[in-house]
Amino acid sequence: MRKILVTGGAGYIGSHTCVELLEAGHEIIIYDNFSNSSPLAIKRIEEITGKAINFVSGDILDQKTLEQTIHLYNCDTVIHFAGLKSVGESTSDPISYYENNVAGTLSLLKAMKSLNVKNIVFSSSATVYGQPQFLPLTETHPLSTTNPYGNSKLVIENILRDVFASSPDWSITILRYFNPAGAHSSGLIGEDPLDTPNNLMPYVAQVAIGKLKELTVFGNDYDTPDGTGVRDYIHVTDLARGHLKAIEQIGESQCLEINLGTGVGYSVIDIVNAFKKASNKEVPFKFAPRRKGDVATCFANPNYAKQTLGWEATLGIDDMCKDHWKWQETNPNGYNPAE
Ligand code: NAD
Ligand code: UD1
Repeated sequence: MRKILVTGGAGYIGSHTCVELLEAGHEIIIYDNFSNSSPLAIKRIEEITGKAINFVSGDILDQKTLEQTIHLYNCDTVIHFAGLKSVGESTSDPISYYENNVAGTLSLLKAMKSLNVKNIVFSSSATVYGQPQFLPLTETHPLSTTNPYGNSKLVIENILRDVFASSPDWSITILRYFNPAGAHSSGLIGEDPLDTPNNLMPYVAQVAIGKLKELTVFGNDYDTPDGTGVRDYIHVTDLARGHLKAIEQIGESQCLEINLGTGVGYSVIDIVNAFKKASNKEVPFKFAPRRKGDVATCFANPNYAKQTLGWEATLGIDDMCKDHWKWQETNPNGYNPAE
């Protein structure tokens, strides 16, 4: 059993991971500034697991509070989700992205080092592969990025590799997520975008429930089976279980980069059709030009995750749509019932 500091644990992927960690018997302390989440998510995790949760309302830029928290709860491991994640926003406000993501991670690493805590699992993204040079994407694919959000992830990865090179007593697992989707099967926790969603699945869900009029499909002239972009969507519960596996094997001297994807690609139109089936609602859409910075196709080779973690995705696109819809239908305003 580990004592885990979960930065960003109230967020979308963090909250689902906390459920899996608690159900497996680990102790967790959520550390979040709630800049993109709600304390209600923590209540819901408690409701799902029947366990009381320790949490600290704090910023990862605040090294002192991080140190106090790690010390107070005697944490031996950190899972680091906290950060900003919108590609568009990162282009208009790069300083906030480098500050929260890069400076925030440095502050966390300094706090960990000062207390001799050297086990960390970090949330990276398939965005670090840039424009795919071959598919499926293996962890050895060359790294490159096209926007400040992606740059911040790559810089953090490089920092972690340098930390390990300087002190091999660290145990570092860098998880590169493909496209998280879906929600917990209870419908109690899920993704709660503060503004109009940028990502496909939450956008489709809000069209299905009638909050948004129609989906704009960015590009129907890609070199893909139906002309629309193809991605590797992964159920957030599968992703959460990947973190559990990562925690189970952390502690060895290591610095690993591991893809968390399914290995299967679906197009935008596949997602629209699967969501219509799961929700029994219409999802009207129109075609528009390609979105700047998008790639045609992106999917993982998930073999290394199976080899190193003994993990593979078990849930498919129908589960993702069914669970996403349950969350959307029972929480039409996310965690904000007053809206
Ligand atoms: P999210 O926004 O739902 O969760 C991030 C959490 O971190 C939020 O609860 C937010 O309040 C908190 N946070 C942000 N800045 C903070 C700070 N300075 N101090 C303390 N807390 C802070 O995002 P998510 O989808 O759960 O993503 C989690 C991580 O995974 C992020 O690092 C993200 O970049 C990465 N990631 C996400 C995706 C995706 O599509 N969701 C894909 C690849 C990688
Ligand atoms: C986006 C980010 C990526 C980030 C990932 C995780 C960009 C360019 N990339 O990836 O860096 O790691 O989210 O959250 O923002 N689509 C539509 N209409 C929409 C929304 C999306 O047609 O309203 C299409 C896109 O063109 C794409 C697919 O749906 O083909 C998936 O898009 P999205 O969910 O935004 O994810 P990515 O673009 O893969």
